[in-house]
Amino acid sequence: INDQNLAKIQQATNLKELNEIRVGVLGKKSPITNVLRGMKDLKKEDRPVVGQFANEIRDGLVTAIDNQKAALEQKRLDQKLAHEKLDVTLPGTPVVDGTPHVLMQVMEDLEDVFMGMGFQIVRGYEVEDEHHNFEMLNMPKDHPARDMQDTFYITQDVLMRTHMSPNEARELEEHDFSEGPIKMIGPGKVYRRDTDDATHSHQFFQMEGQVIDKHITMADLKGTLEYAIHSFFGADREIRFRPSYFPFTEPSIEVDISCFNCNGKGCAVCKYTGWIEVLGAGMTHPNVLKAAHVDADVYGGFAFGLGIDRFAMLKYGITDIRQFYQNDIRFLSQFNGED
Ligand code: PHE
Repeated sequence: INDQNLAKIQQATNLKELNEIRVGVLGKKSPITNVLRGMKDLKKEDRPVVGQFANEIRDGLVTAIDNQKAALEQKRLDQKLAHEKLDVTLPGTPVVDGTPHVLMQVMEDLEDVFMGMGFQIVRGYEVEDEHHNFEMLNMPKDHPARDMQDTFYITQDVLMRTHMSPNEARELEEHDFSEGPIKMIGPGKVYRRDTDDATHSHQFFQMEGQVIDKHITMADLKGTLEYAIHSFFGADREIRFRPSYFPFTEPSIEVDISCFNCNGKGCAVCKYTGWIEVLGAGMTHPNVLKAAHVDADVYGGFAFGLGIDRFAMLKYGITDIRQFYQNDIRFLSQFNGED
């Protein structure tokens, strides 16, 4: 029987099987345990002989099991190592680098231009209150201009900002003019209740800015915008200023640049006029200053707002604004951050 047991142990092919054998040959109900337990019933003189014999058999089984266990563990380790073999000379799987989104690249390019002129960046809040988004900007509740900036309301007075101007209102409210003028840009995401199509999106990016000090004139506004547009679109862009209307500026202007790729003549991009509108601006309305408790007799200045999506579309010849938000890697990877 012992030889059979030893053979069984040596034939065990895995640790679980070996454990089952161990329970059978050495466990509480095994013959060897029975013999050892029955020692007390034997005659005194028989006990040493039987005891020695039984112990030898038990020790033999224990050793055989230990050896087999070690062998099986080694085998398992060998298999694992063979399986997980690592060849460091094989070429690796290439990791595709991400790049900043093209809109973020354009935003940063514009930030650089304005920071070069000494503007500071103010980020503000995507969720705004009605008061800063409209009221303070000379657009009371019944103002028709609110129609153009219909948005998503969180509650009756809290909404997704429709433009970056609330940022300017907040800065006006908080600024301490004894520390110097306001010279800020506010880049960020804005929302409008528009049906998405090639040129409209319910979310897009704007950069607005304002300069408020004593003795700021429209010539300052003109010079600032000309410099910014030439820096971004190239010095050969022609620029024209047209009178316009915004509730928060007076006088107000819109800025056009000469159309791309159609030699100032006309093409679909510029609706066959030779010009494309890129910016709204104007001299800050006294009501806006008053709403922020700034002395409108002493301080004044200008504000402007531009669409970052629009700037990106014009610069890179993108014809559908929705492409910015669809996150198609084939589209996005064309803009690898190098000009
Ligand atoms: N807030 C305006 C808009 O979103 C843009 C603008 C800003 C126009 C500042 C004039 C002055 O339409």
